[in-house]
Amino acid sequence: MKFEYFSTLARVFFLSLVFLSCAPKVDENLYLTKTHSVVSVFKNELQSNLLKAVQERGAENSIEVCSELSPKIEAKIASENNLQIRRVSEKFRNPNHEPDAWEKKVLQKWTEDLKNGKKLAVYSEIQNAEYRVMNPIVLENPNCLQCHGGFGDIKPGTLKKIQDKYPKDKAQDYKLGELRGAFSSRWKI
Ligand code: HEC
Repeated sequence: MKFEYFSTLARVFFLSLVFLSCAPKVDENLYLTKTHSVVSVFKNELQSNLLKAVQERGAENSIEVCSELSPKIEAKIASENNLQIRRVSEKFRNPNHEPDAWEKKVLQKWTEDLKNGKKLAVYSEIQNAEYRVMNPIVLENPNCLQCHGGFGDIKPGTLKKIQDKYPKDKAQDYKLGELRGAFSSRWKI
């Protein structure tokens, strides 16, 4: 009797172990590495094309590069991977880039970090069967100011085109070193 009792207990114990080891685990490092690589592709492809266009034909005639190329890259990355990716910003130009509550919280934390002289770190969290990652975008290249800077940085012709296309634009008056936004990735887990 005693032996039977023990063996039932042992069985339950071993079955639980098997169950636990089979339960889905989120390999955070894997997701972070994958995010790092898709964000690098997105960033390089967009920035190199945009800055090349600005050099060749001026900012005024390069606005479409940003608005047309980014959704194409987003769709391509999403179809090759099991994720959604987009850029977000508190001061967004395109309303599709308005952050949700969680994204806003991360952007505000980074703004504080920058004020306190801290280095910005990638932020991630598991939420409702999704692994969400935010990679910061700091405005580092002086050419970005031609479309996101203040009075004097954006030429009148460029400003007019921006205002026509984005009447509620908020993405102006930036200075070098400021937080421009983030790449926001959502992996299905
Ligand atoms: C030729 C003008 C131009 C230049 C130069 C430019 N941008 Fe933009 N940027 C835009 C436009 C237009 C949008 C809105 C795109 C859209 O409709 O999706 C935008 C959107 C963004 C967004 C997405 C959030 C939002 O406001 O909608 C980020 C982030 C961003 N730009 C960062 C940068 C950075 C960093 C640089 C410099 C490497 C840069 N931009 C240079 C025109 C420009």
